[in-house]
Amino acid sequence: MGQPLYRGVIERYRTCLPVGRSTPVITLLEGNTPLLRAPRLARWLDLPEDGLWLKVEGMNPTGSFKDRGMTLAVSKALEAGAKGVLCASTGNTAASAAAYAARAGLRCAVLLPEGGVASGKLAAALMHGATVLSVRGNFDLALDLAQKAAQEAGWTLVNSVNPFRIQGQKTAAFEVIEALGRAPDFQFMPVGNAGNITAYWLGYREWHAALKKGLPRMMGWQAKGAAPLVLGRPVARPRTLASAIRIGRPASWSGAVKAKEESGGMIGAVSDAEIVSAWRRLAREEGVFCEPASAAGLAGLIRYAESGVFHRMDASRRKGVKVVCVLTGHGLKDPDTPTTLPFRQRTLEADPGAVRRALRSAR
Ligand code: F0G
Repeated sequence: MGQPLYRGVIERYRTCLPVGRSTPVITLLEGNTPLLRAPRLARWLDLPEDGLWLKVEGMNPTGSFKDRGMTLAVSKALEAGAKGVLCASTGNTAASAAAYAARAGLRCAVLLPEGGVASGKLAAALMHGATVLSVRGNFDLALDLAQKAAQEAGWTLVNSVNPFRIQGQKTAAFEVIEALGRAPDFQFMPVGNAGNITAYWLGYREWHAALKKGLPRMMGWQAKGAAPLVLGRPVARPRTLASAIRIGRPASWSGAVKAKEESGGMIGAVSDAEIVSAWRRLAREEGVFCEPASAAGLAGLIRYAESGVFHRMDASRRKGVKVVCVLTGHGLKDPDTPTTLPFRQRTLEADPGAVRRALRSAR
């Protein structure tokens, strides 16, 4: 007999989730994503070779971590007899909601900031048959509209203000602990609407309550032009190249602050230039292509390491340190942003000599 078949996060963590025997399980086999060692980056950052781990959430069925929460939110919506599901989104939540709604046979509508969603995410929402509504305004305004519309129409809101989303997303913390054999010392991650940092912290705390073992310091990173949690006030016109986290008024504000304070962590801001640099470095040196927003956490880690924190740790502590960097979404969701970078791509005559000459000058 082989291993029992993997059946998605609800079945895997059923006893830790608010589901009953009669809850229909709508799954695309989300979760169970790789925790991948990043030895090159680790060496560069003064960490031991097995000290830096990437939680590759882009390997989820719709290409982002949202699927962990969506399996639960849509299953519960179906159980409750919802007329449909609705969300506002910078793209990934929309793609995920649309896919799980399709699977459940539920109607789905998504409110997107017009012109602010990467093409792969929009394509997915359309393909899965969601009603796609582009709002002339940013994500924060779209979320206000979605909340009102859900109430009026009696549809279920599946943004992370829906508590089932957070419950599903906490399973990522359980997976990290299972893979490492313990909680990491630090967890770096991007922060937008702040549901994910809230969910991870919930997961880590539940595990800690059960086993009385260590907890990570939660290190959340926003983009400089969209950093309300760092400024301590909402940002009316959030700006960043990382469209997924272009958010000025995070719905889970208090959850993010709690995660930071209770864990002794921090929430910082990185510039778009730092995000792009971390994003490219990860792709080139570790072979992992994430979307720009996902690289904000890594950019934060680079900033933190460059301040000398790991370098100054005494050798015995540094040897055992474990850092997790959460890569929230797949790079192929946003195929257009790389084309804005100054990459060289040459066109040749169909001629062996031309290829030979080109290879001679290749890096
Ligand atoms: N990374 C990616 C790829 C995201 O899509 C998001 C959020 C985040 C990070 C931030 O996570 O909001 O839980 O703090 N995307 C949402 C969406 C807002 O609509 O897809 P968060």
